Amino acid sequence: MKSHRRILSLVAVILTLVLIQLAPVERTNPPVEKEITAPDTVKAILRNACYDCHSNQTKWPWYSSIAPVSWLLVSDVTDGREEMNFTTWNRYPAKKQATKRKKVWEEVKDGDMPPLPYRLMHPEARLSDGEKEQLHIWSTTP
Ligand code: HEC
Repeated sequence: MKSHRRILSLVAVILTLVLIQLAPVERTNPPVEKEITAPDTVKAILRNACYDCHSNQTKWPWYSSIAPVSWLLVSDVTDGREEMNFTTWNRYPAKKQATKRKKVWEEVKDGDMPPLPYRLMHPEARLSDGEKEQLHIWSTTP
């Protein structure tokens, strides 16, 4: 009896996982308008560690096709782009660009960006001390 129930709940879980794949998920990459201007070294760091969530050039990994992971990733990217988008940088007035630049260092200094789960899945996005220093200088130069 007990193993019966276990098989039934396993079937239910599998069915659920199959069925949620049917929900439509839009993984977009809207057009790049004007990329942020920064020294090449800084741009390379941003591309490498931030662009998946803060640009219109997201590299969607294979697991972003699988629900429920897809829902989480799409919502992260949507929120990230809304907060700050390095490829629609022209939409920000100069003052806002300056504030965002300062915020970059605040987040990086505290180790809040890139977020920990992202760093776990993307070892190449973990910033070295040297890279952090580059962002620091760029971010705090008026
Ligand atoms: C996995 C997705 C992801 C990656 C990668 C990522 N971010 Fe974010 N970032 C977010 C999300 C989501 C938010 C908005 C919610 C929040 O603040 O946690 C955010 C918010 C921010 C903010 C706050 C903006 C504001 O005006 O308050 C800054 C600054 C920031 N990120 C910088 C960076 C930098 C710099 C990198 C790369 C070194 C980076 N992020 C990488 C997802 C990401």
